[in-house]
Amino acid sequence: MGREAETLLSNLRKRIVGQDEAVRQIVDIYQTYLAGMASPGRPIGSFLFLGPTGSGKTRTVEALAESLVGDAHAVVKIDCAEFQHSHEIAKLIGSPPGYLGHRETHPLLSQETLNQYHTEKVKLTFVLFDEIEKASDALWNLLLGVLDKATLTLGDNRRVDFSHAMIFMTSNLGASEMNHIIRPSLGFAAGEAEQQAAQMMDGKKSEKLSKAGKEAARKRFSPEFMNRIDKTVVFNPLGESELKKILGLELRAVEERVSRATGAVPISFTVNAAAQEFLLREGTDLRYGARHLKRAVERLVVQPTSNLLATSQLQGGDALLVDFDPEASGLMFLKESKEAVPHRQSNKGNSAAA
Ligand SMILES: Nc1ncnc2c1ncn2[C@@H]1O[C@H](COP(=O)(O)OP(=O)(O)OP(=O)(O)O)[C@@H](O)[C@H]1O
Ligand SMILES: [Mg+2]
Repeated sequence: MGREAETLLSNLRKRIVGQDEAVRQIVDIYQTYLAGMASPGRPIGSFLFLGPTGSGKTRTVEALAESLVGDAHAVVKIDCAEFQHSHEIAKLIGSPPGYLGHRETHPLLSQETLNQYHTEKVKLTFVLFDEIEKASDALWNLLLGVLDKATLTLGDNRRVDFSHAMIFMTSNLGASEMNHIIRPSLGFAAGEAEQQAAQMMDGKKSEKLSKAGKEAARKRFSPEFMNRIDKTVVFNPLGESELKKILGLELRAVEERVSRATGAVPISFTVNAAAQEFLLREGTDLRYGARHLKRAVERLVVQPTSNLLATSQLQGGDALLVDFDPEASGLMFLKESKEAVPHRQSNKGNSAAA
């Protein structure tokens, strides 16, 4: 593997937990592109991401943009739920000249939009069609042309070139079938241990999941469409050990936010093991993957910390330790001197009383 592809691989692995298949497929396509071997007249690559909510489908695209152009938001994102009716397509491509409102419509998918994140070094565009199954047939038809010829024709007949784009489509299709495989209903009599055993992921199960996802996609999408997609990847549901790693990533991100907020004089910010264990307990709901965990971190760590900053109880140069308080069964926030900041969370953080 070339050096640039290696770098991308390690950057993605640092950011994305438990989805090696997705990471590998992206790096493969990037490598083909770097080698100048991408098929001419087509997008650099097209991907369909399936799998449960909160498993990293959208995050993977952001992490790719972060790794290659240094900005997670450098993604052209189309929320397909906004294009359920064919007339809404005008928002994407603009209306033909002469139509009412023609002058006012700036197509969302213009060449300028696509090129806006290009840098001196990287002329790549990441396009994300989120919740693709919600789109109207009119959007499907547009996509067929984009996937096949890397061209989109706007309402006023201008052409948009997608040959420097990587196209990602995400969908929850098959999620309920997958849920059934992950968590078979055992009936009332099943004990906790039995339930846990039934939820364990193994190779066989993950193969079943992958099949169920692809099957659901084939039922919903036409063969023309499926055949134009380079890679279909089914994301794995996240288990406890993955969530634990993601918690580490999320806390590092919070630390960066804290540093940014205090500017030149940073705050040393530590969440100790007991506090992390508590967060993991509070933030684990296997139905919602890392989404639930992320919300717990916002509620139990970010909000109280913001409160301390806003009231100047915490300032640049301070050292903050977040610890678990068994008595209150919540987190407590201590300044380095071990003198408790008068801010304590109790009752699992539902109230952040002083
Ligand atoms: N595999 C993962 N590795 C690292 N972080 C993750 C992973 N999965 C989820 N996260 C974290 O959880 C958040 C939500 O995940 P994400 O938006 O990628 O879910 P999704 O799979 O797109 O779900 P949905 O189908 O509901 O859109 C991300 O922003 C990220 O912080
Ligand atoms: Mg998503």
